[in-house]
Amino acid sequence: MKKQILCLLFLSLFIAPSYAQLRQKFYQNTCPNVESIVTAAVTKKFQQTFVTIPGTLRLFFHDCFVRGCDASVILANPNSEKDHPDDQSLAGDGFDTVIKAKAAVDSNPSCRNKVSCADILALATRDVIRLAGGPFYSVELGRRDGRISTTASVTNNLPHPEFKLDQLNSMFAKNGLSQTDMIALSGAHTLGFSHCSKFASRIYSRNGIDPTLNRQYATQLQQMCPQNVDPNIAINMDPTTPRTFDNVYYKNLQQGKGLFVSDQILFTDSRSRATVNLFASNSTAFNKAFVAAMTKLGRVGVLTGNLGEIRRDCARVN
Ligand code: HEM
Ligand SMILES: *[C@@H]1O[C@H](CO)[C@@H](O)[C@H](O)[C@H]1NC(C)=O
Repeated sequence: MKKQILCLLFLSLFIAPSYAQLRQKFYQNTCPNVESIVTAAVTKKFQQTFVTIPGTLRLFFHDCFVRGCDASVILANPNSEKDHPDDQSLAGDGFDTVIKAKAAVDSNPSCRNKVSCADILALATRDVIRLAGGPFYSVELGRRDGRISTTASVTNNLPHPEFKLDQLNSMFAKNGLSQTDMIALSGAHTLGFSHCSKFASRIYSRNGIDPTLNRQYATQLQQMCPQNVDPNIAINMDPTTPRTFDNVYYKNLQQGKGLFVSDQILFTDSRSRATVNLFASNSTAFNKAFVAAMTKLGRVGVLTGNLGEIRRDCARVN
C-alpha cells in the first residue's frame, strides 16, 4: 500500500501540469527589475493614449485562447493569427505596448534577450488593469514564446458576441475556466470600444430591437450607430464609466445595458444571474474573482522549461 502511494507521488512529478513551472520570481537572478521596467514603459505608453489599456488587455485574452499564452498573437508572419477576422480589430496600441516594453527591458544589459514576450504581455496586462483603477496582483512568470502563428488556429477558439451561455461556457471550459471565471473575465468589457457591426443585429433586425436590451440604451445605440455607419466608428462598451476598471459592467447588465448578446445573457440566463448580482453588489468579490480568473487565464497552454524560445523581436521568431 505504502509502495503504491510512493509510486503515485513519484509519477505525479512527471505528469504535473506545465503551469506548475510558472512562478512569481522567475527572473529574480536574470532580470530582477523586469517588473519596474515594464511598468515604466506601460505607464509612458498610457500617457500617450488611453487605448493602451483596453488594447493590451484584449490582446492578452486573444493570445491565451489561441495556442496558449505564448505571444503567438504578436507574430507578424504571413497568414498569422492577426489575419483572422476575429483578431483584425485588435488595437495596434496593444501590440505597440508590448514592443515598447520589450525594448525597455532589452535596453538593460543584464536583461537583454532574457525575458519572453509572453511574460512581458502578462506583466503589461496587470499594469494596465491597475492604471485603469483595477486591482493589483502578482503575476506568475516563466512563459516562453511560441514559434507558430497561423490564421487557421484562431477559428473556433475565440468567443463571438452573439454567443449564449452554453457556448460561452464550453469555450471557456476548453481552457480550464469555470462559469464564474468566464463571468468575472467578461467584466473586462468595463473598458474599451466596440465597432457598431458587432451588435448591429440587436438594434436593427426584422424582428425589431432585442427585447433584453434597455429601450433607452437601444435608442442611444441607434443614434451612435446609424445604419450604413462608417465601419471605423467604435463606441464605448461601458456607457457609464468607460475609462475605469470597476464593477459597473455588472450594474449595467442588471439594467439591460449589456452591449453584446454574450454580455446581456449573463444576466438574462437564470444560471448565471446570481453571480452577476454578486459582482454588481460587491466590488471586492468581483476584484477577487477577476484576479483569480486572470491568473488561471495566464496559465493556459504555456510553454515552459526548454520549450519554445525567448524571442529577440516579439513580431518574429528567432
Ligand atoms: C466572454 C466572451 C467575449 C466575447 C464574445 C468578446 C467579444 C468582444 C468584441 C466583439 C469586442 C469588440 C471588438 C471590436 O469591435 O473592435 C470586444 C472588445 C474587448 N474585449 Fe472582449 N469578448 C469576450 C471576452 C473578453 C475577455 C475575457 C476579455 C479580457 C479579459 C475581453 C477584453 C476586451 C476588451 C478590453 C475589449 C476592448 C478592446 C479595445 O477597445 O481595443 N473580452 N470583445
Ligand atoms: C464582499 O466580498 C468579500 C470577498 O468575497 C467578502 O469578504 C465580504 O464579506 C463581502 N461583503 C459583503 C457586504 O457581502
